[in-house]
Amino acid sequence: MKLHEYQAKEIFASYGIPVPPGKVASTAEEAKAIASGIGKKVVIKAQVHVGGRGKAGGIKFADTPGEAAKVASEILSMEIKGLPVRKVLVGECLEVLEEYYL
Ligand SMILES: Nc1ncnc2c1ncn2[C@@H]1O[C@H](COP(=O)(O)OP(=O)(O)OP(=O)(O)O)[C@@H](O)[C@H]1O
Ligand SMILES: [Mg+2]
Repeated sequence: MKLHEYQAKEIFASYGIPVPPGKVASTAEEAKAIASGIGKKVVIKAQVHVGGRGKAGGIKFADTPGEAAKVASEILSMEIKGLPVRKVLVGECLEVLEEYYL
């Protein structure tokens, strides 16, 4: 079974597990609108079925909706480990205190 991060977060949310605000986008304009709705610094994350997205340059931050559009369009034109990026998750940028891998 392969799930994208945004799909996993939707499933968590449907069972009442708290997840940070965020939505999936397939265009720069959609990413801009989502960033605008979040209203603070966002993270733009390539949705591809591989790990190491950050190390491959597929995860970037944006301070404004305009910057979110620019960063999303860059990530949406990437291939990561041979997989074209067709969607990005635009989420609230959080202060990461601890990180776990399951
Ligand atoms: N919502 C967020 N707010 C702040 N930082 C984030 C957020 N999501 C991801 N990051 C940062 O980006 C890094 C990479 O994200 P993530 O671990 O989800 O992707 P990955 O595919 O496992 O990439 P990598 O192998 O580079 O860790 C995280 O370790 C964290 O530092
Ligand atoms: Mg990681």
